[in-house]
Amino acid sequence: MTVTQITLVQGDITDQQVDVVVNAANSSLLGGGGVDGAIHRRGGPDILADCRRLRASHYGKGLPTGRAVSTTAGRLPARWVVHTVGPVFLTEDRAERAGLLASCYRESLRVAVELGARSVAFPAISAGIYGWPLDDAARIALTTVADEVAGGRAGEVAEVRFVLFGAEVYGVFERVW
Ligand code: AR6
Repeated sequence: MTVTQITLVQGDITDQQVDVVVNAANSSLLGGGGVDGAIHRRGGPDILADCRRLRASHYGKGLPTGRAVSTTAGRLPARWVVHTVGPVFLTEDRAERAGLLASCYRESLRVAVELGARSVAFPAISAGIYGWPLDDAARIALTTVADEVAGGRAGEVAEVRFVLFGAEVYGVFERVW
């Protein structure tokens, strides 16, 4: 059985030498700012072409919040990008939205396992433009992934790496961990 390590690094997710890079996308799958913009810019047009095919074939109305799908990683060092859609932070419906944020991590890991990935890099989903308070976003991210690993649902994944953009985000994840 594969032992899965959970690691935290400060850095840019587009630099990571891993099988799967997870993208904090929006439901259009057609790009945006933040980590999504960085992945499409550096990965090149093949990622967007795959996203357009997914929209045309399965997700005419867009990818629902909390779900995940894979595409090529284009020119990134990774093999695949798994796109997931985090919830926007709002104080109303917080519990339901927290469940959707946890679902992003579970579903992305499930897709990565189906692909046969051995390493997966996650950003801090919803913790940027979508406004989720950092320590809560970190707690949901870390407990969800730790539960999946403890429950034997990480397949052949030997490393789940949280790639935190900047000292502040890294510091909060490290403290929560
Ligand atoms: N590598 C790792 N993390 C990064 C990078 C990077 N290159 N760039 C930003 N981050 P955000 P969200 C961090 O806003 O909150 C887009 O427009 C960032 O500092 O990328 O889920 C999408 O299209 C923060 O800690 O994602 C959606 O419309 C974390 O990644 C919307 O933003 C998430 O910030 C999604 O918003």
